[in-house]
Amino acid sequence: MKHIILIGFMGAGKTTVGKLLARRLRYPFFDTDQLIEGQAGMSVSRIFELMGEEKFRGLETEILKGSWTREENWVLSVGGGLPMREENRRLLKDIGVVVYLRVQADTVLERLAGDTSRPLLKGGNVRERVDSLLGRRGALYEEGADVVVDVDGKRPEEIGEEILWGFRRETHLGQISRKL
Ligand code: S3P
Repeated sequence: MKHIILIGFMGAGKTTVGKLLARRLRYPFFDTDQLIEGQAGMSVSRIFELMGEEKFRGLETEILKGSWTREENWVLSVGGGLPMREENRRLLKDIGVVVYLRVQADTVLERLAGDTSRPLLKGGNVRERVDSLLGRRGALYEEGADVVVDVDGKRPEEIGEEILWGFRRETHLGQISRKL
């Protein structure tokens, strides 16, 4: 099994880095938000609006339980809130090597300024929201990860290299080789 899963906060670069890794490794790339949008036939924002966050969280868990996860060699980027459910953290670790892209609030605010596609950041004081969500989520991302990579101030290519280098080293040391 050589599945790579990227987790982390909104704006951490999961999709950008995931696509880059997939290209480098010649693996297919998947993104849970896109899979859900494809199945539901509407955007994540619309799902939140029409069905609420809990229903969306249920759809995230269903996606992880799909038979496609058993196919060989892919890179997956998952929505920022998906690893908050304990069941999801377990499912992720069962199906691949989980890489946490750790990002600081300032970077998130810079990258997502003017973004309207994230329902959890709409309206009100965005900085307060990002601080509070990051504060609550940080430990759970770490708990759900096999590898942690700090992304602030780095280009996607550097982050991709770091991940690949980490995998080679870890594989060499045999620590996560059972998953690779
Ligand atoms: C969410 C993150 C989003 C998307 C939804 C909820 C979250 O994905 O799943 O808006 O709870 O952090 P990205 O992390 O890809 O932005």
